[in-house]
Amino acid sequence: MNLISIKDLTKQQMKEIYNLVPKYTTRELLPELKNKYIGLIFEKPSTRTRISFEVGILQLGGFPIELSGNQLQVSRGESIKDTANMLNCYLDGLILRVNKHETILEFAKYSKIPVINALSDKEHPCQVLSDIYTIMQFKKVSLEEINKIKFVYIGDANNVCMSWIYICEILDMTSYFIIPKKYQPNEKFKNNIVITDDITMLKDADVVYTDVWISMGQEKERAKRIKRFKPYQVNSKLLSLAKPNCIVMHCLPANRGVEITDDVLDGKNSVVIQQAENRLYVQKALLVYIFSKY
Ligand code: CP
Ligand code: NVA
Repeated sequence: MNLISIKDLTKQQMKEIYNLVPKYTTRELLPELKNKYIGLIFEKPSTRTRISFEVGILQLGGFPIELSGNQLQVSRGESIKDTANMLNCYLDGLILRVNKHETILEFAKYSKIPVINALSDKEHPCQVLSDIYTIMQFKKVSLEEINKIKFVYIGDANNVCMSWIYICEILDMTSYFIIPKKYQPNEKFKNNIVITDDITMLKDADVVYTDVWISMGQEKERAKRIKRFKPYQVNSKLLSLAKPNCIVMHCLPANRGVEITDDVLDGKNSVVIQQAENRLYVQKALLVYIFSKY
């Protein structure tokens, strides 16, 4: 079983993963991944994802093996096919953060071991899987009740946003994606997904979610994007439209003062630290789930 897109999971599978989470919120050394060697290939920087996966694997008795940068012969032109065929012989799982989504698909094509997407240009499934858990925790709702929550994403239709749209489709969550027209996705989505450029749709939001306007790899577009997205900044004025007890989420890293102001990111509605902490617990549950199916 792989997790390449969040669409690889059904609602029922998510429920089973969330049911496992409470067992994995301790630092206790557990044996679930005993004798499992898991490779981590990171083509881009990462703080939360890489460290939470490494620590999680260690806490479950497995061995994370970092294979980043120029450590692999892929960096000298060896094919992904030949690399994946070798890794099948040595490893039990592969976690990849890649520049191009196609790289993960190519690894998965030849891998006989589970492949997990730790972020690509198209999706960030582990992030949104964990974020739903955070919403359930703070809003005190079960997965069955999650469609009662007014979820509003504001900003760029990037990898995180696309995984959010797909998970909202899977969970039938009525959700609003406030994105400037020119940057809106072209795909057609289910009826519960509202794509708009109308900032007033933030009204009565239970969850306000944003992410950077300049994702890794888009640095050259910085000036243009900052200008275009400026009205979409999550600041106290904009937040006053949402419910007073709304939670503010951001996958981090944040560009403070750009897509979100300091007072909001550090304010009483912000849950970003707990959100990041939950990555560790939900990913441990995910690993246990995936290896139980393997
Ligand atoms: N949210 C997230 O994936 O953070 P990192 O880039 O630090 O892994
Ligand atoms: N959209 C961001 C997410 C970082 C976790 C990026 O791709 O850079």
